[in-house]
Amino acid sequence: MDVVVIGGHGKIARRLLGLLIERGHGARGVIRNPDHAADLESLGAEPFICDLETEELTDAVAGADAVVFAAGAGPGSEPERKKTVDLGGAVKLIEACRANEISRYVMVSSINADHPGDWPEQMRPYFEAKAAADAELEKAGLAHTIVRPGSLSDEPGTAMVSAAPDSPYGVIPRDDVALVLAEVLEADNTIGKSFDVVSGETPVKAAVAAR
Ligand SMILES: NC(=O)c1ccc[n+]([C@@H]2O[C@H](COP(=O)([O-])OP(=O)(O)OC[C@H]3O[C@@H](n4cnc5c(N)ncnc54)[C@H](OP(=O)(O)O)[C@@H]3O)[C@@H](O)[C@H]2O)c1
Repeated sequence: MDVVVIGGHGKIARRLLGLLIERGHGARGVIRNPDHAADLESLGAEPFICDLETEELTDAVAGADAVVFAAGAGPGSEPERKKTVDLGGAVKLIEACRANEISRYVMVSSINADHPGDWPEQMRPYFEAKAAADAELEKAGLAHTIVRPGSLSDEPGTAMVSAAPDSPYGVIPRDDVALVLAEVLEADNTIGKSFDVVSGETPVKAAVAAR
């Protein structure tokens, strides 16, 4: 399978690109900074330069079997960038999938994106953007999966998670999020599903197979 990961130099994305290569898939990472290309090449992934705020993603995803939206404006960014990256970029990716007749779209969302009542006020622009992006994807008619990780850590992964439509708040290493995404791409049972993922007691493969 040829997979394109948007936000290709992100911490989750680089882990995912490495896993995809290990599993024998084609892996392309879409990055905006040409200086990041060598890092992707060292993983065996193909870099594609495109700033999703100022350019279309149509050419970036050409030839792909599946796409993953793993970009994000980041915690220090202004509310406007949540709209242009977290929402606008995700919507551009839907349009690029349509233009290229790609149906499989996996979204890196966030735990609580589906719980507006739990949003702290200062995080509201971020969660509003993530919730709107998820809603756009759900109604796009693509073969989507929405993965909502808990709070991300850089601790080593354990490959043990809890994946459920509605989890209590929790933490999860980025290693394990990437592993879940790699499994989801290979698991058609996850098409049309949305679920939270946090550290837990079930091996990733089994947790994904049970969705
Ligand atoms: N932090 C949490 O606890 C948490 C919890 C749940 C979900 N999430 C979600 O998980 C996502 C991935 O996490 P992460 O740690 O892998 O994030 P990350 O390391 O910040 O990666 C995000 C990537 O998006 C890229 N990007 C930003 N603006 C772009 C643009 N205009 N064009 C192209 N690429 C652009 C960034 O590129 P540059 O390197 O060029 O800036 C960066 O590489 C987050 O963005 C967030 O939505 C986060």
